[in-house]
Amino acid sequence: MIIDWPRLRAAATSAAGRAYAPYSGLRVGAAGQTADGQVVLGCNVENASYGLTLCAECGLVSALHAAGAAAPATKQDTATTPRLLAVAVVAGDGVPLLPCGRCRQLLLEAGGGDLLVDTEGGPVELQVLLPAAFTTTDLAQRRDTQ
Ligand code: THU
Repeated sequence: MIIDWPRLRAAATSAAGRAYAPYSGLRVGAAGQTADGQVVLGCNVENASYGLTLCAECGLVSALHAAGAAAPATKQDTATTPRLLAVAVVAGDGVPLLPCGRCRQLLLEAGGGDLLVDTEGGPVELQVLLPAAFTTTDLAQRRDTQ
């Protein structure tokens, strides 16, 4: 599928405009392109209890599932059938912002290592931004047997 990066970045910029970031003053918007052609959005939401802050990518991944565009919710399928193809994350100025570490991990489970992430230098695969990641494979192989 062709990714319309300008459209995705514009959608992320609109979402950033709706962010709730009165404490940091950093608005963040995220837009994701799904395998079935949907665009899902997220924005950061802060709280007076600072540690409760939700990153824009958290909202995006929730929207992905709410839209039914994510992988089926079975243990087997979630590891093998990511449905998020591309993501643009921007600050309020519309310029790409690289996802924080926690959000890279979250995006990995939604899109896999070949998820394309918008950067100022062009799209980059998530596995470049999050090498040697912990995944569901580690979980399956290393948990105590019951
Ligand atoms: N933030 C995001 O929304 N995504 C990121 O990947 C990095 C940080 C938000 C969280 C907080 O509201 C603000 O940016 C400052 O850290």
